[in-house]
Amino acid sequence: MHENSTDPGANKGIGYEVSRQLAGRGFHVFLGARNQNAGRKAADEIAKESGKTTFLVIDVADNASVTAAAREFAKAADHLDVLVNNAGIVVNGDNGILESSDELLRKTLETNTLGPLRVTRAFVPLLTKSKAPRVINVSSGGGQLTGGADGWSPAYCISKTALNGVTSQLATALPKFAVNSVCPGWVRTDMGGQAATRSVEQGADTIVWLASDAPQKLTGKFLRDRKEIPW
Ligand SMILES: NC(=O)c1ccc[n+]([C@@H]2O[C@H](COP(=O)([O-])OP(=O)(O)OC[C@H]3O[C@@H](n4cnc5c(N)ncnc54)[C@H](OP(=O)(O)O)[C@@H]3O)[C@@H](O)[C@H]2O)c1
Repeated sequence: MHENSTDPGANKGIGYEVSRQLAGRGFHVFLGARNQNAGRKAADEIAKESGKTTFLVIDVADNASVTAAAREFAKAADHLDVLVNNAGIVVNGDNGILESSDELLRKTLETNTLGPLRVTRAFVPLLTKSKAPRVINVSSGGGQLTGGADGWSPAYCISKTALNGVTSQLATALPKFAVNSVCPGWVRTDMGGQAATRSVEQGADTIVWLASDAPQKLTGKFLRDRKEIPW
């Protein structure tokens, strides 16, 4: 039985790098993206370099798209070992907690918090068929409550705090799974910008480790650099 992984939000940035590395380790990667052209191109690039990569169209903010993606996956594979919930957004204008609209917060939560929850729900039947199911929620140090907020992109940070709550709840609800949150650090991507301190390889490291070599009993934690950090 080979290992399958799916990584929604992987046409670029950290998600692309995670998919690339997992394909290099022999996973059959189902590369998820909402943009068909970008997703297919990314999956083809990885397939050329190493391993089996299949494009899966998925918009994590759209329930119908997520359930369709799980159905599509089930046509190609009978189980899922690793789900990496990587898709994330910072909405333009997310500059101040007192100024931002309910709509801005809702939009952010829809992708960053409800997205990982609805994708996990949709794929749980397939994950349950794995010998060692793993769910990795790509969160952010911006969501940490320890140390207090610094005021940067408050809706984004709130969505990641809530995502960490989702991780903790899922870890309890799915005791045979390893479910964890990861902060990749500040990474040079379209989201992180070119001034960021980490490469995509560094940003992907803990995610790939949790997907492959980390102990299965490690669950319900928030990690950076392969180590637990406070919520
Ligand atoms: N970069 C950092 O410094 C940093 C730090 C902490 C945490 N993170 C987290 O790391 C993750 C990856 O970020 P990144 O830096 O690689 O960002 P990125 O380069 O902007 O990539 C984000 C990815 O998410 C996808 N996405 C967004 N909304 C989606 C949706 N509704 N359905 C499916 N895919 C969707 C994007 O697709 P499109 O191309 O279609 O937009 C893109 O592939 C995010 O969860 C982010 O919050 C990043």
